[in-house]
Amino acid sequence: MDSSPPPPRATVRPLVAADLPRVVEIFAPFVRDTQVTFEEEPWDVGRWEAKRRELADGGLPFLVADVDGVVAGYAYAAPWRPKAAYRHTVEDTIYLDPRYTGQGIGTALLDALLDALRAAGVRQVVSVVADVPDAAGSLPLHRRFGFVEAGRLTAVGFKHGRWVDTILLQRTLTTPADDAGTAGTAGTAGTVPG
Ligand SMILES: CC(C)(COP(=O)(O)OP(=O)(O)OC[C@H]1O[C@@H](n2cnc3c(N)ncnc32)[C@H](O)[C@@H]1OP(=O)(O)O)[C@@H](O)C(=O)NCCC(=O)NCCS
Repeated sequence: MDSSPPPPRATVRPLVAADLPRVVEIFAPFVRDTQVTFEEEPWDVGRWEAKRRELADGGLPFLVADVDGVVAGYAYAAPWRPKAAYRHTVEDTIYLDPRYTGQGIGTALLDALLDALRAAGVRQVVSVVADVPDAAGSLPLHRRFGFVEAGRLTAVGFKHGRWVDTILLQRTLTTPADDAGTAGTAGTAGTVPG
């Protein structure tokens, strides 16, 4: 009989302001110790609060995975570029406390994030993944959800004394209206493949 403990059960829910200190704690080591993010200074609660408001004002999701009352990770989507015609395209971001990786929590977060983005009328989701070992989990996670590789930007980051490439992944979202061939309000591209 298998006596190993069952994996933790994560509840994915919208972030509330009280979660921000945990978001600070989760993100800071990635900033300091890895090239997964090209940020070089950790964000404080105030910076995250501004991000939270910006996303809420834009109708975009900011979710957390809650395991027994502890925030194990977070995911959000922000506008891909500021120019107006990019308004149906977002970039996703997902980070877990390393103690919680490899247990399906990233999958639960990305699944809920894509559902929320679909409901918000988003059409394209782009993921920008640094080509470094610490970000290795991001590629299989996104591929699992149908993201396809859209290109590579060579040596666009310089952090901790080395040049880093990014890999671009992209996923098209469809809505029930698309599937019925009656799309038209969210974007101008009409029906697109899922
Ligand atoms: C990427 C990340 C969110 C994945 O979350 P996770 O909870 O560990 O992922 P899951 O357990 O749901 O696994 C999803 C898939 O990724 C694979 N995977 C996870 N970590 C992996 C790793 N380090 N190396 C290779 N594959 C990995 C799993 O085997 C699974 O693949 P499958 O669908 O073929 O079975 C998490 O590892 C993380 O926070 N990494 C550091 C930050 C980061 O890179 N964020 C992305 C920047 S946007």
